[in-house]
Amino acid sequence: MEEGKDPNVNPVRTNQSRVLPLRLLRFMLVLVVIGIVLSIVSVRMNKSLGIRNIVTRTLPCFDEPVSLQSLIRPPSNYLHSMNDSELLWRASLVPQIKEYPFKRIPKIAFMFLTRGPLPMSPLWEKFFDGNEGLYSIYVHSLPNYQPNFTTSSVFFGRQIPCQMVEWGRMSMCDAERRLLANALLDISNEWFVLLSEACIPLHNFSIIYRYISRSRYSFMGAIDELGPYGRGRYNPNMLPEVNISQWRKGSQWFETNRDLAIDIIKDTKFYPKFEQFCRPACYVDEHYFPTMLTIQSPNLLANRSLTYVDWSRGGAHPATFGKNDINKNFFKKILEDQTCIYNNQPTSVCFLFARKFAPSALDALLQHSSDFFGF
Ligand SMILES: *[C@@H]1O[C@H](CO)[C@@H](O)[C@H](O)[C@H]1NC(C)=O
Ligand SMILES: *[C@@H]1O[C@H](CO)[C@@H](O)[C@H](O)[C@H]1NC(C)=O
Ligand SMILES: *[C@@H]1O[C@H](CO)[C@@H](O)[C@H](O)[C@H]1NC(C)=O
Ligand SMILES: *[C@@H]1O[C@H](CO)[C@@H](O)[C@H](O)[C@H]1NC(C)=O
Ligand SMILES: *[C@@H]1O[C@H](CO)[C@@H](O)[C@H](O)[C@H]1NC(C)=O
Repeated sequence: MEEGKDPNVNPVRTNQSRVLPLRLLRFMLVLVVIGIVLSIVSVRMNKSLGIRNIVTRTLPCFDEPVSLQSLIRPPSNYLHSMNDSELLWRASLVPQIKEYPFKRIPKIAFMFLTRGPLPMSPLWEKFFDGNEGLYSIYVHSLPNYQPNFTTSSVFFGRQIPCQMVEWGRMSMCDAERRLLANALLDISNEWFVLLSEACIPLHNFSIIYRYISRSRYSFMGAIDELGPYGRGRYNPNMLPEVNISQWRKGSQWFETNRDLAIDIIKDTKFYPKFEQFCRPACYVDEHYFPTMLTIQSPNLLANRSLTYVDWSRGGAHPATFGKNDINKNFFKKILEDQTCIYNNQPTSVCFLFARKFAPSALDALLQHSSDFFGF
């Protein structure tokens, strides 16, 4: 009996079931041929390009799961290709869960704003020695300066991408914001200290770390100074963002905690007003951050700087100390003959850093550092 005529069998289905294995076989054959051709081609290419070993060596990386530690590890190289808008945006990212799911040891970021060399670096090296893990270092110099620290130096590779700075102008605040933003990229940095090449530490690391980490306030100088060099620099065009009674003046050399550092780098409200209406003889680095933070967070400010400077000699620049100024009495005056408020209590420890020191002072400072400063 012919199959097609069987009333129980669907003729179309019968046809298909006969044809299918043939098609399948042909299809598989094509696949096998393509496979062989592809593998021959790829082996040849790998051999000719010499990438066979690289491919097998890099494979395990793809298998390794990403850990939190690898995502938050600070960069080993400070160089990056972000421009300022990109950098400030990246640095403004803030975790919304306040409790860290890992042991976070808070660090102090020491940010050096310099023209070129750091003549006091040997003293700082001595100061930092033995305190690894509790500090980070960032250096912003003029763009044409090439630092020449040896690989064993704590300053080696600590240079961030820099731009031109004109003293007393907004480009100075831009450099400070650039330092803060780079330092904010390391999630462990909790306090941020701005220093110059003429600054020295006045105490050993443990004293400075304890003083800063236990303070309820950030050390931003901010005073309401009457007269031409204070309120006299205020420009009413800054209204409504800043009025005359909110105008503040302070030393450029500050210390802030992480929250205030983020407030500084994320600001877009005050920046245009200061850029436009605080130009010499209004020195923007003495007014922008103190005024803005006084308006936004007055209760977080100590309103004084941690950096000693001597204006008593008069003139446009503070005194610079050289070899002949360095003696026990000089530092006794800075370290003991002072009173100020620390966490709402009077204290004689008012300054942790001092400026300005000439390179000629270095040898005497190094020689007597344990006597003067306890390190
Ligand atoms: C940074 O680069 C972005 C993208 O190219 C650009 O939109 C932005 O204006 C740049 N910012 C600065 C400050 O150059
Ligand atoms: C680095 O350069 C400065 C001059 O800019 C020089 O005084 C110093 O000795 C150099 N240091 C090293 C380690 O080469
Ligand atoms: C400045 O602004 C503050 C806050 O808005 C206000 O309390 C103060 O009275 C203003 N001062 C002047 C002189 O306008
Ligand atoms: C700093 O000054 C602001 C006003 O400008 C004030 O509210 C604040 O209490 C002062 N800080 C301290 C620690 O006294
Ligand atoms: C730091 O200085 C203080 C006071 O001078 C001293 O008691 C302490 O032992 C010093 N710490 C270190 C680690 O040298």
